Amino acid sequence: MGDGKKIKIGIIGGSGFDDPTLFENQIEREVTTPFGKPSDVLIEGEIKGVPCVLLARHGRKHQYQPSDVNYRANIWALKEAGCSHVLATTATGSLVEEYKPGDLVILDDFIDRTWGRKCTFFDRTEGGPRGVCHLPMRPAFCERARQAMLKAARAKGYACHDKGTAVVIQGPRFSSRAESLMHRQWGGHLVNMTTVPEVVLAKEAGLSYAAVALVTDYDCWRENENSVSVSEVLAMFSKNVRKAADVVIDAVQILAADTDLTYLDGHQDLVCGAIMLKE
Ligand code: ADE
Repeated sequence: MGDGKKIKIGIIGGSGFDDPTLFENQIEREVTTPFGKPSDVLIEGEIKGVPCVLLARHGRKHQYQPSDVNYRANIWALKEAGCSHVLATTATGSLVEEYKPGDLVILDDFIDRTWGRKCTFFDRTEGGPRGVCHLPMRPAFCERARQAMLKAARAKGYACHDKGTAVVIQGPRFSSRAESLMHRQWGGHLVNMTTVPEVVLAKEAGLSYAAVALVTDYDCWRENENSVSVSEVLAMFSKNVRKAADVVIDAVQILAADTDLTYLDGHQDLVCGAIMLKE
């Protein structure tokens, strides 16, 4: 990728990108992958001249709950569409006082509390990659893409934290109080249900991946306060989702203006170096 090739940016999230004037030359493509069908059609187009592909993580009708999202098909489809980057948005609960509902956080790490999700492409699926892949997870997110998102948020004047560890729970239920307190003790700043395995698979696919988290609630760890509820999450999300979408849209321009793309080779080299028993 450092050889003059252009970038193409996958955007996972959906909400907040429904302005019909945002995507120029828009076409919808229904695709399938060796890992099955992605959550919805790929919406291909350009944001201010930069090629982008939009995909609704949960489907446009929000038909897939977090543990049923086909994360492998989503990432594979974006890779097959020629994406070099994936920028994601995610609603999160906060595990620390300073990260307030309405704030943005550019994630920099995760703790995986999910189970049973397909979290590797290297499982001998027909049409998938071969070998055994032991990928390092530090850093979990692409620093270049993270910085682009942070710069975009700061330029807009949004309250945005430059770091955050997301504890990713299985769902669909929210955490119990004891779990929430434990997640805090572990050093988590945020809690959500989707960052794993999305970030892991993007890394396996050799993509530059970063995510902007929108804080919607304080989960259920605070004294004398009600537990998080769906209505609270939805209300905070729709009130603030514009901010997360703006960050992605402006980060697209920042990444496209970058003339040094050698970091993209780094993502691909990392995967090549992590594969054992290549067949
Ligand atoms: N998404 C938004 N808020 C959440 C919470 N408190 N727990 C898990 N996922 C969430």
